[in-house]
Amino acid sequence: MVSSEKQPHAVLIPYPAQGHINPFLKLAKLLHRKGFHITFVNTEYNHNRLLKSRGSDSLRGLPSFRFETIPDGLPVDPNHADATQDIPSLCKATTTTCLPHLKNLILKLNDDDDQVVPGFIWLVCDAVMSFGVDVGEELGIPVAVFWTASASSFACCLQYSQLLRRGLVPLKESSYLTNGYLETTIDWVPGIKEIRLKDIPSFIRTTDPNDIMLNFFLREMERSQRACAIIINTFDSLEHDIFEAFSSNHTLPSVYSIGPMDFLLNHHITDDHDELNKIGSNLWKEDQECIKWLDKQEPNSVVYINFGSITTMTNENFVEFAWGIANSNKRFLWVIREDLVGGENAILPNEFVEVTKIRGMLSNWCPQKEVLGHPSIGVFLTHSGWNSTLESVCNGVPMICWPFFSDQMTNCRFSCNDWGIGLEIEDVKREKIESLVRESMDGEKGEEMKQKALEWKKLAKDAASYPNGSSFQNLDKLIHDELLMNK
Ligand code: UDX
Repeated sequence: MVSSEKQPHAVLIPYPAQGHINPFLKLAKLLHRKGFHITFVNTEYNHNRLLKSRGSDSLRGLPSFRFETIPDGLPVDPNHADATQDIPSLCKATTTTCLPHLKNLILKLNDDDDQVVPGFIWLVCDAVMSFGVDVGEELGIPVAVFWTASASSFACCLQYSQLLRRGLVPLKESSYLTNGYLETTIDWVPGIKEIRLKDIPSFIRTTDPNDIMLNFFLREMERSQRACAIIINTFDSLEHDIFEAFSSNHTLPSVYSIGPMDFLLNHHITDDHDELNKIGSNLWKEDQECIKWLDKQEPNSVVYINFGSITTMTNENFVEFAWGIANSNKRFLWVIREDLVGGENAILPNEFVEVTKIRGMLSNWCPQKEVLGHPSIGVFLTHSGWNSTLESVCNGVPMICWPFFSDQMTNCRFSCNDWGIGLEIEDVKREKIESLVRESMDGEKGEEMKQKALEWKKLAKDAASYPNGSSFQNLDKLIHDELLMNK
């Protein structure tokens, strides 16, 4: 615990999307349990969604765990008020809107809150909300950036500027997207022996030097390196070579792996544990019926399908997935977000609906952590979002990977090639999906993946174990070396 007459104060600001808010809330809870007063900053849009999905109770917090909001700069589309906002628009809007609001909020917190030592505020901003670094420099407060995804994806994004310098990006013409160019292998990313351009976070796939996302990441990476520390949501043994490379990169501040935070939270139970547990971050209402359905299934018998909070697909792909799953003859739980198919309501073939009645369960949004921890789950068909990947690792569940965009490309490559826990869907054809489901549930490869997944689960637990786990120690080090040294 941090000792101080008054509580130190951590202000946390995630990028406003589900895959960022979830790990940020876990980090906030960990810091709270370490003795910090917490201010958790959501955008107004997401705050309203949380009120709808979880009720006001979940946002009331505790006297020492408060929520604040800032605007994101985007108009609300009444037809899509319950969906993830368009990512490029959101990146542009947060970059141009949020800085003065965050600055004013911190000034207000510094003046108002008598629970907190004045000036003893620590800002933890998302690595893709790195205007927080500018705010910290201006106000003279320490800032750590939190990269909520894997270390390998961070390592790749750090090389965006080098990819430009070497003339590999932007692509010369759009045919490069399909003519095999993305198979080009590079061997100079520190900590990664070899990687294809197609495995690098997907914002390099543009012919436009002014592309919003390419330039957004170039700027976020540059600014993140000016923070006093970089926190990464992973564990050392999973991405050891990359952490070695980080430690010999003298332009980077200290980098701390602090995952998996679910395991770390188990070691940090405090008196207000139950109150803190009520604070949740799901932007959609969780359907508990699927857990009741899973309770009735045999161990390792169910294929769990979920593409996270952003992925969309064509109706053609959707139908191929449906038939691939149905033809495998396995039981399945498929979470179909309302805007999964082309942003519109998905239409399932009638015959598939009949199959579902016999051996399936459909849902809009589920409590994924509970689902992945359920003994009935045999394999996870996923879009390879980092949170989903890490949650699968923590539960020893192998994956079938269909990456959609961003860091998911990198997560898929590492899951399938390096960690031995994934099979990739390269082409969405029903025969292919059927055979990958069968292979992962009944085949030799499936058995190997299951064993590997259980090995990684053990290493994940070790990383978070008291008192010598690498993440357990990193969290303490982060607090003492960065915060207390910089206050
Ligand atoms: C996005 C990116 O896609 C991801 O790659 C990046 O690392 C973070 O931002 P998202 O696509 O939503 O996130 O995927 P993911 O990272 O897997 O995060 C989804 C989160 O929502 C997970 O924590 C998952 O447990 C939760 N979830 C998802 C649910 O609780 N229920 C659901 O039905 C679906």
